[in-house]
Amino acid sequence: MKPRTPVFVNFVIVVALLIIVYNMFVQNTSFFGSPYFWATIIIAGIMVFIANGIGDLIENNRFQKLSEEEKKAYLEDKKTPYYKRLWASAFKKQSNAEEQDMIIDHGFDGITELDNALPKWWLGLFYFGCIFCVVYVSAYAFTDYAHPVAEYEKEYKEQLAAIAEYEKTAPKITVETAKYDPANIPEGQQLFDSNCASCHGQGGKGGIGPNLTDDYWINVKEQDVFHNVFWMDENGSPNNPAMRAFIKEGVITGKDAEKIAAYIYHINQEIPPITQAQGGAAPQGEVAPWVKGTPRK
Ligand code: HEC
Repeated sequence: MKPRTPVFVNFVIVVALLIIVYNMFVQNTSFFGSPYFWATIIIAGIMVFIANGIGDLIENNRFQKLSEEEKKAYLEDKKTPYYKRLWASAFKKQSNAEEQDMIIDHGFDGITELDNALPKWWLGLFYFGCIFCVVYVSAYAFTDYAHPVAEYEKEYKEQLAAIAEYEKTAPKITVETAKYDPANIPEGQQLFDSNCASCHGQGGKGGIGPNLTDDYWINVKEQDVFHNVFWMDENGSPNNPAMRAFIKEGVITGKDAEKIAAYIYHINQEIPPITQAQGGAAPQGEVAPWVKGTPRK
């Protein structure tokens, strides 16, 4: 007969399991404030004590049936503190006589095998794994716990909120602070296609709005193409309401104007214009006196 696990150890294990279960199903630590959680802890505690009481009865009963010698050995064994016994059980090595008792002889092939009892720590881990598996699988199946789609959506929302927060607090880009960056050209092209190409044509070749690839400009408000485009985006055309003040109206936000201006700078200054012969719109305005590059600081 072996001494039993003390009741407080069982209680701690049950409480730990309950916390894991709650944590998986609730997915935050708010349950510590919930009366349901504490009620489950109390009920579980009572059940552990009841089970322990039943265990005591069985233990007494069995104890009566032991021989005097076995009783003595058992009481002696019981004196060792629980953890010491647990620790020792991990390294226990049986005597040769004990080994003889539990040897299994396969008989026909002459191979013999030691039928050792599994170590307590191993069994403990095994049972813990089984319970954890059931809890985990049901939490995974029936709640959002460890659910990739739910996690993705949560993070996505958090990121959108972070971006919105950033846009609110980040200093607004103006024609004074706008900077040309060639890395912005591809994104600028996409933004141009969805916001401007309906009037200014594919690649800025012109349509309702002027050809943006040639040297002829109606509006010359800045020294260079990049800042002039930004100015137009911010203020619109003083002559023609069709060209709206996209930035002031909040249609173009954040760094988008900087990107679009980079793209238009690129198609105007860095590659050959789309001429009338190539389907471009006829020049409008005068040849603009652009300075090279994007000098405004
Ligand atoms: C609804 C049609 C329309 C849309 C959309 C539009 N524009 Fe224009 N845009 C015009 C017109 C028309 C003009 C000519 C204004 C004038 O005569 O002063 C113009 C002029 C311009 C000019 C000055 C050209 C010059 O020769 O003076 C720039 C730069 C410009 N637009 C950029 C843009 C950008 C960038 C976008 C997208 C964010 C855009 N436009 C969207 C119609 C439009």
